[in-house]
Amino acid sequence: MAARIIAQVVVSVGTVVGRAFFAAYKQAAANAAAGGGVAAAARGGKEGVVDALTRKTGMSLEEACQILNVQKDADLSQLTKNYEHLFGANETAKGGSFYLQSKVVRAKERLDMERAEEIKKTQAEAPSDSQSPPPPSS
Ligand SMILES: *[C@@H]1O[C@H](CO)[C@@H](O)[C@H](O)[C@H]1NC(C)=O
Repeated sequence: MAARIIAQVVVSVGTVVGRAFFAAYKQAAANAAAGGGVAAAARGGKEGVVDALTRKTGMSLEEACQILNVQKDADLSQLTKNYEHLFGANETAKGGSFYLQSKVVRAKERLDMERAEEIKKTQAEAPSDSQSPPPPSS
């Protein structure tokens, strides 16, 4: 009797540990895949130019777009819509994966940064109105 209970406990502990192990393994594999992509890109070629944001976030623009299922030039409302949908669909309370949900958040951050960077660039290229001569006074 006691032996049976012990055996059951051992089995269920084993299952929990096994699950945690599997989740960690999946995550490590995913990280390796992401890192491998960056490393491969860093090795050279025209596509090899890893931009600062990719290095900073560890996520390429392409990956972020894939995760959120948007085009690079998707507008903000589309981006927000997809983000909210995927974030909600991956809610852990609904049996989603925390890892995937985090990916969705990271992807959104990455695209937000890209957008901010682009705005900065356009502002730097085009002189703002304040730099043009004032209108003639009458
Ligand atoms: C969870 O997010 C991923 C993107 O990381 C998406 O591909 C997947 O479809 C989402 N899960 C659900 C249940 O929608």
